[in-house]
Amino acid sequence: MQTIQKIGVVGSGTMGNGIAHVFAQAGYGVVLNDLREDLLEKALATIGKNLQRGVDKGRMQASEKEQILQRIQIDTQLENLGDCDLVVEAISENLTWKTDLFKKLDANLQPHAILASNTSSISITKLAAVTQRPDRFIGMHFMNPVPVMVLVEVIRGIATSDETAQVISDLTQKLGKTPVEVNDYPGFIANRILLPMINEAVYALYEGVATAEAIDSIMKLGMNHPMGPLTLADFIGLDTCLAIMRVLHDGLGDSKYRPCPLLVKMVDAGYLGRKSGRGFYTYT
Ligand code: CAA
Repeated sequence: MQTIQKIGVVGSGTMGNGIAHVFAQAGYGVVLNDLREDLLEKALATIGKNLQRGVDKGRMQASEKEQILQRIQIDTQLENLGDCDLVVEAISENLTWKTDLFKKLDANLQPHAILASNTSSISITKLAAVTQRPDRFIGMHFMNPVPVMVLVEVIRGIATSDETAQVISDLTQKLGKTPVEVNDYPGFIANRILLPMINEAVYALYEGVATAEAIDSIMKLGMNHPMGPLTLADFIGLDTCLAIMRVLHDGLGDSKYRPCPLLVKMVDAGYLGRKSGRGFYTYT
């Protein structure tokens, strides 16, 4: 069975920096790649801040935090990922950008290396098909916030080999997380179930059934969800929520997945949730 030692992470946003964080914390050398140096510096600062939470609570020594940070090398050149055994892609949910990136990575990496995508909804089979290694291609779908959430949804494309799935499941366990394997259909499992619930909450608001606060309180207090669905939508990003609903609607062809017009309107307005300062709630 293949061993993974060096890991590349492409994309240093919320998901990418969280993924680099958990690999480095588990002892792996990580090369974190993005287009610009300033984005990478910001990502390292975020990882440092999130590790500091553990130091402040006495769960980690300050020296351990420094060792973890030192395992993360930042780099803007894709060529420098050439000796990685695994590269996890965590760039924006754009099919063209992702396929361009995977073609370059495929040409650059050693034959044994595995390619993984953290996509929340794009087909793993479709991404794998642009490479010469569809058997060594897999979905590794982390949840936000990555250092906290225990699940990794492991998505097998049509050609993903048993060995690749096993290597990635074993690796996920070494991160202290739980891999759950699913097949490659629109939205996989997590988002096929979560996003229609969020979309329904937006419909309830749109139809005036209750206020945003009331909808969230009902789901928090009545269902023990840590966040209400509209707060969670703001946390995920309304553009991401809409993109996932569109993938479900197009891919499964059932009108029950139609995105709520209010969600579409908010995204059109640039009300994207926490990241833009305004969504169903306002953030300062
Ligand atoms: N990095 C590291 N630690 C973090 C963190 C981060 N970014 N964010 C929170 N934490 C830690 C805190 O330090 C705290 O640790 P302790 O329990 O040891 O004190 C713990 O997490 C809880 O945080 P808080 O006390 O600050 O706040 P909270 O209790 O409200 O929890 C939350 C915050 C963990 C985000 C919680 O609200 C939650 O679980 N929300 C739901 C998250 C969720 O559903 N995520 C999935 C989104 S969908 C997705 O990701 C997939 C997709 O494709 C769309």
